[in-house]
Amino acid sequence: MKIRKAVIPAAGLGTRFMPATKTIPKELFPLVDRPILLYNIDEIVAAGFDEVILVIGPTKQAIEKFFDPSFKDIKVTFVRQEKALGLGHAVLTAAEAVGNEPFAVLLGDELMLSKPGQPSGIAQLANVFAETGLSAVAVMEVPERDVIKYGIVDVEEKGPNLWKVLTVVEKPAVADAPSRLALPGRYVFTPEIFEYLRHTPPGKNGEIQLTDGMTQVAKKQGMLALKLDAIRFDAGDKLGYLQAGIEIGLNHPEIGPALKKYLHERFGRDK
Ligand code: UTP
Repeated sequence: MKIRKAVIPAAGLGTRFMPATKTIPKELFPLVDRPILLYNIDEIVAAGFDEVILVIGPTKQAIEKFFDPSFKDIKVTFVRQEKALGLGHAVLTAAEAVGNEPFAVLLGDELMLSKPGQPSGIAQLANVFAETGLSAVAVMEVPERDVIKYGIVDVEEKGPNLWKVLTVVEKPAVADAPSRLALPGRYVFTPEIFEYLRHTPPGKNGEIQLTDGMTQVAKKQGMLALKLDAIRFDAGDKLGYLQAGIEIGLNHPEIGPALKKYLHERFGRDK
């Protein structure tokens, strides 16, 4: 079955970016001149999906305004998560809009830039799903000290850059981390995950964790993990956001050469 719909949870509070996020959702922060969110939409459009379901919070009307009727790249629908009760809860909020079919999830503050001519990040996962019929999630290797920041997977190796997922642990301590393979926010799920999330009690920080639902899918239906051929930035983090802006700026036809020159000069001056 083909993936047709992608969910972008964008209802988080963005506390790492306060006070900027008091009035502007971080998903609309610009990377040069385009909001972060548009890069995720590009990734979805490149995968050939039909619809984006944006999960937005009560203070995110600006996101709705951005996609006024003149936006024609793809069908965009909105669902509201009234309270930021966690990523698992945000995905569950989209259950009705998704229906009983496999779907993709892209975190609204994570960027996945693939090389020109290569399948987009989410398309690479959709391809794994098309071949296997199994849920497929992106993983990346992180240094040991960073496992505490991510969902971490326990895996069995299946091939180059491909693993079978056994369980998923949310933000483990270094000593409890089953591997250094972390989830950078790209997923394709079969719809059973909604049922598991519905029965998931709040976990860490009182939030309904997506990782709990993922463990159930991994155990009952099966799940694969794939290292994507793409560059990833955590644009919901201050440093990651600046790095993404520089990367996109350097490749920007209008300002790329001048930015490169500035960075050379600036770097030289500090030496
Ligand atoms: P994050 O934890 O990175 O986002 O969630 P956050 O909560 O907005 O950020 P901080 O930690 O307070 O700075 C990952 C993604 O899941 C969404 C966020 O919008 C983000 O894109 N999310 C998170 C929701 O949609 N709802 C939630 O309840 C939590």
